[in-house]
Amino acid sequence: GGGGAPKPEKKDDATEPDVKEEEDSDLVPMTVIFGSQTGTAEEFSETLAKEAKKNGFKATVKDIEEYDHEEELPNESFVVFLMSTFGEGQPTDSATNFDMWMKEQEDTSLLSNVTFCVFALGNKQYEKFCAMGKRTDKYLGRMGGQRLMKCGIGDDDASIEDDFMEWKEAFFAAAGARFATSKSEGDEKFTAEWTVDILDGKEAETYNSGFKPAPEFKDNIEMAKVITNKERRQKCIDGGSTREVIFDISDLSISYITADNLGIYPMNDPNTVQTILKKLHTDPDTVFRFQNHDKHLGLPAICSAKDVLLWHLDINNPPKKSLLNVLAGFAGDEKEANTLKSWASPAGKEEYKKNIEAPHMTILGILEAFPSLDVSFGNFVELVPKIQPRFYTISSSSNAQPSAISITMSVLKGGVCTNYLKDLKPGSDYAPIFVRPSTFRLPSKISTPIIMVGPGTGLAPFMGFVQEYEHKSKANGGKPAEGERVLFFGCRKRDVDFIYREELTAAKESGVLTGLQLAFSREEEKKVYVQHLISQQAQALWKMLSGGGYVYVCGATAMGRDVKEAFVEIARSEGGKSAEEAKAMLDTLQDSGRYVQELWST
Ligand SMILES: Cc1cc2nc3c(=O)[nH]c(=O)nc-3n(C[C@H](O)[C@H](O)[C@H](O)COP(=O)(O)OP(=O)(O)OC[C@H]3O[C@@H](n4cnc5c(N)ncnc54)[C@H](O)[C@@H]3O)c2cc1C
Ligand SMILES: Cc1cc2nc3c(=O)[nH]c(=O)nc-3n(C[C@H](O)[C@H](O)[C@H](O)COP(=O)(O)O)c2cc1C
Repeated sequence: GGGGAPKPEKKDDATEPDVKEEEDSDLVPMTVIFGSQTGTAEEFSETLAKEAKKNGFKATVKDIEEYDHEEELPNESFVVFLMSTFGEGQPTDSATNFDMWMKEQEDTSLLSNVTFCVFALGNKQYEKFCAMGKRTDKYLGRMGGQRLMKCGIGDDDASIEDDFMEWKEAFFAAAGARFATSKSEGDEKFTAEWTVDILDGKEAETYNSGFKPAPEFKDNIEMAKVITNKERRQKCIDGGSTREVIFDISDLSISYITADNLGIYPMNDPNTVQTILKKLHTDPDTVFRFQNHDKHLGLPAICSAKDVLLWHLDINNPPKKSLLNVLAGFAGDEKEANTLKSWASPAGKEEYKKNIEAPHMTILGILEAFPSLDVSFGNFVELVPKIQPRFYTISSSSNAQPSAISITMSVLKGGVCTNYLKDLKPGSDYAPIFVRPSTFRLPSKISTPIIMVGPGTGLAPFMGFVQEYEHKSKANGGKPAEGERVLFFGCRKRDVDFIYREELTAAKESGVLTGLQLAFSREEEKKVYVQHLISQQAQALWKMLSGGGYVYVCGATAMGRDVKEAFVEIARSEGGKSAEEAKAMLDTLQDSGRYVQELWST
């Protein structure tokens, strides 16, 4: 065993030939700034930077979080932003300050010396599609910046990488024309930036295996013991399964508020990991040290081969085209190299879909299908994207259950995190968790009417709400609070996937819920969904809204869209508003935190 370490390019070597420096001095400086939550915008920024040189530019990549926009932005000559959108049209955590700053700027000549370009990342399933990128484009223009070309749009619901590749071509063409750069034949070959060493002796002997977060992660990640892990459906048909997993946090420093999000770092499938390590001729227990100048690695600097693959690499998603392109350089067989290159090319769109996307081919599949690939362990770790945590809406109340966090998850075929969680043994297994705040907050006045819409696992936060009101009711001698609390839930059939049936029925009986509306989509010929029931209840719901009520919607993005439309229609029909006024009213409710959504695309 033992993995080969790559020979890093010595970038800062003062003895480099002068010719190269002269060449570099002809390059036009370009700053690439990304606002990324799950790594896509960051990856695209790196790709852009790598291709800058052959297009006549010298790129510097910066995370918006570490960029001093006030000082630096007005002094840039050429700047490119790659911005993704989160929440409901919000910036990534890293771009929150920048977003606020942009909105406040009134000086319309602040950026008059700056040429800019924006690529917006988003997902069409969300109503506020690419909002942050579009906003960045708008405000940079308002500050007097020179727009190189119109804002690029990337849709993660289709192929965001294809969108990016197309935009990139147009971008370099426009930038080349604007700055009169000359193109050169670029060196497409991968040069390792990381230094990878094998540790031996004491350093290796004292290594403790298991999950350790990368040092740059800011969340407080702790190992939490699983205390419950049980099926919540009545029947598991066609592999369908919804489980409740409860973590003990009594001895941890983690705390939460009802309906917060629980972040989980999943472990990859150990069998897959073992097979990949064999293919890479690497002993699972070899301990490595990784370095990348002063840049983040996305994993701990010291880590065993096994732990790197178990916890830190995204080995389950189909590899991106950019990765296939780089891998082509590692294929000993020319035919294999050409196939990889063609699948990664714009002309190979359909081939990529057919061979990679549709069969969900993973990096292991690639290693198996292209046996001439000879990648060292170090290069592999540098190249493969790092794994992202998954989020689950907490389904317990922090007042009723301060020392435990429960989540409700639907197990997905082939899904990394849900299949990892489903097998954790209560009482003995631990998982790396952390808490992130959510926008779901109950009104401060307990009697304020609330409307909850949560079909499927979208029910999660409302189980937390139900527990919360039950807790308050107990403290009040068993008397439920004043005010209306209506829940809309939906599933296929009441005797199949009606999760928390007993709890919900009891909550309705005790008055903790004043209304429980159930939509079953597979019981009758006509499919009934929550939005249908919402429309049927128009009058009552309008009364609740007019009385200062709050609306909470949780679950799939498509459902969220339909439900919002149903509410707009209620404001129109019951409130006597025009279609435009009705939509504006819902937008106002949303902006003021009275119409809150937590939606994820499946
Ligand atoms: C704010 C927020 C809150 C959320 N709350 C909840 C919640 O309360 N409950 C809940 O259940 N989920 C929730 N989610 C979704 C959750 O975060 C995960 O996305 C989901 O559980 C899937 O994770 P996974 O790792 O199992 O799937 P992944 O590994 O990420 O897989 C993604 C998709 O690829 C498919 N796939 C993977 N491998 C294969 C393969 N070999 N063949 C075919 N298809 C494959 C999977 O079926 C899945 O559809 C939430 C998401 C967000 C953003
Ligand atoms: C919880 C969540 C909320 C999102 N909200 C939006 C949104 O409001 N509008 C949008 O266009 N895209 C939205 N997206 C999609 C992301 O912007 C898109 O997947 C993007 O490619 C992520 O880029 P990143 O990996 O650089 O963070 C959302 C994604 C998630 C997971």
